[in-house]
Amino acid sequence: MSWIAGELLAFCRWCNESSFGHGIRDSVWLFPFVEIFHLLALGLLGGTIVILNLRLLGFRFRNEPVAALARDVRPWMIGSIVVMLISGFLLFSTEAVKMYGSPAFQFKMSCLLLAILFTFTVHRKVTMLDEERIAPVWRKLAAIVCIVLWTAVALGGRAIGYVPSNGAAG
Ligand code: HEM
Repeated sequence: MSWIAGELLAFCRWCNESSFGHGIRDSVWLFPFVEIFHLLALGLLGGTIVILNLRLLGFRFRNEPVAALARDVRPWMIGSIVVMLISGFLLFSTEAVKMYGSPAFQFKMSCLLLAILFTFTVHRKVTMLDEERIAPVWRKLAAIVCIVLWTAVALGGRAIGYVPSNGAAG
């Protein structure tokens, strides 16, 4: 096992045995309660991604300047991502070693890293530039990549319950 894999497994074991991991796992209602926040924030995040990218694709909100719409939508996007990260970590802590060996979770986390990096670098730049300064084809491409990455994260999350985990074997 590589050094980083060993460190990750040790972190997962720590989460699994943590007071909050135990507390949520041993409670009848806490896990579904936390998952409600994960799903509500998912809906809000999905809404912000759809609104902004329908504008970039030129399908909706064409009267709204892209930069102005992005300014209005971005606080909701960031807020929902923060809630997803916190609620996701709490869900993860209840079954962290199982998640360590879950191909669906590994896929989801890889896509999540790419989605966050892309959304707050290239996509952000595209939405801030004046529309005359960037060709429509680049705006459309940025919208499609953004939608594909976040959809992959959500599908990875949904697949967690269906794809068997290899446990600590990773
Ligand atoms: C911000 C991006 C995220 C999105 C879009 C997302 C999306 C999802 C979706 C769609 C599900 C399936 C819900 C269901 O069908 O019941 C899910 C479940 C889950 N997510 Fe996330 N998630 C995100 C972040 C995270 C993070 C950062 C973690 C952990 C560090 C995480 C851990 C989990 C776990 C453990 C489950 C499975 C819960 C179960 O066993 O039912 N998620 N997520």
